[in-house]
Amino acid sequence: MYETIDLDRIDSIQTPPEEEPARQYYFLARCRKYVENESRRMGRALTARVVTFGCQMNARDSEKLSGILKEAGFQTADDEEADFVIYNTCTVRDNANQRVYGRLGHLNSLKKKNPRMKIALCGCMMQEPSVIEKIRKSYSFVDLIFGTHNIYKFAELLSAMFEQEGMVLDIWKDTDRIVEDLPASRKYPFKSGINIMFGCNNFCSYCIVPYVRGRERSRAPRDILREITSLVSEGVVEVMLLGQNVNSYGKNAEFSMTFAQLLEEVEQIEGLKRIRFMTSHPKDLSDDLIQVMKKSTKICRHLHLPLQSGSTRILEAMNRKYTREQYLRLADKIRREIPDISLTTDIIVGFPGEEPRDVDETIDVIQKVGFDNAFTFLYSRRTGTPAAAMANQVMPEVAKEGFDRLLKVVQDTARQNILRLKGQVLDALTEEVNEQDEHFLTGRLSNNTIVHFRGDKSLVGKIVKVHLKECHGFYYVGELLSE
Ligand code: 5AD
Ligand code: SF4
Repeated sequence: MYETIDLDRIDSIQTPPEEEPARQYYFLARCRKYVENESRRMGRALTARVVTFGCQMNARDSEKLSGILKEAGFQTADDEEADFVIYNTCTVRDNANQRVYGRLGHLNSLKKKNPRMKIALCGCMMQEPSVIEKIRKSYSFVDLIFGTHNIYKFAELLSAMFEQEGMVLDIWKDTDRIVEDLPASRKYPFKSGINIMFGCNNFCSYCIVPYVRGRERSRAPRDILREITSLVSEGVVEVMLLGQNVNSYGKNAEFSMTFAQLLEEVEQIEGLKRIRFMTSHPKDLSDDLIQVMKKSTKICRHLHLPLQSGSTRILEAMNRKYTREQYLRLADKIRREIPDISLTTDIIVGFPGEEPRDVDETIDVIQKVGFDNAFTFLYSRRTGTPAAAMANQVMPEVAKEGFDRLLKVVQDTARQNILRLKGQVLDALTEEVNEQDEHFLTGRLSNNTIVHFRGDKSLVGKIVKVHLKECHGFYYVGELLSE
């Protein structure tokens, strides 16, 4: 494991080793020397800032970036006025890309004030050739660019950036590699994301993820279990198992284990209190998984099950591989087996060819399933995906009309659903001191609902019993009963 490595004993003058992760430890040692020298020269510590766009996967990747920066000797900066700033980007919808371009302008002005400042970009957006072209042309002040497949090489790339002039650019098309035992610096001491697989093979016709994250690769069960066991020994009580489609965990792998079996193994880890996972594709959700969840005392009562559309016609064009009826039957079965579960979902409005009657069908599914929350997105045309080439693109004002109509139903349904918890006493993991009022804490119920309650900050990271008193739309205000 990484914790046992002493970087200061690595000879970083010799030629670097070929094998991983030893090669990255070597470059980390080199980075540490560089940061030490720079700090001495400037008479202060060097600071770094990691900015994350997008999903939980990116959030976890950012913890790995932060881990490397911390080991290299950087101090964490609270804002972007730092010596090193890295944007971990998302490209799932175009507005994520636009935000990055907007903020890069601001970074350029900071760099003019601090010419030794270094700027890096990584993540999904960097896997798109058109993006790289644009950055080279219009944002040439960026010092380092890499993609999703070689993030494990961050120490090596950082070291190259320090040692050579001009922009360092390293983008890979794909990889089948998984490098273990690199450091990570967690945002929360008591909960952590764990990658169980990378990439996606589903090719939903609107989605760019399979092109920028590559083919599905599952981590070996022993590596996952070892990582969780080690996190638990450091005080982690809740883990979130991460993958684009966790239900296809272990497919085409050298080992034989399904996602349901993996969960059973994780459940055995002593000291671990809560298990979450994200995301489940409805087409692969097995009866075994439902039974494992039902029996489990640790798996949280929450399932995020993206619907995308409630119209079979549109689902087919989206290449989702299930019908409206199959989704409804699945949701019904899950609710029957695990009555206290919360179901949440993702919905896209304005997919090519979508008509108001399709939106009506989606609304109907929302009402029938009674989602506790739904993330609703306007369709975004992503270059290179099959849907981008479809002739029947929807006019933005038509899409917006459908979006507003749907959003209202989503909000009404969620509000009604959350009311069912009123008066109950439930366990909450205390996550932080409330941002608005320091006498209040913010916690998360097993079903993912947020609850605010009066309490002392020493309870952060602890699971406590809370009486859910007032429902405020999407969250509760409750009373702390006991630890
Ligand atoms: N346009 C809009 N939403 C999208 N998503 C993925 N691709 C697109 C797109 N091109 C949404 C899906 C997915 C979530 C992570 O992002 O709903 O579940
Ligand atoms: Fe995209 Fe579909 Fe893969 Fe999810 S399952 S990442 S929506 S292609």
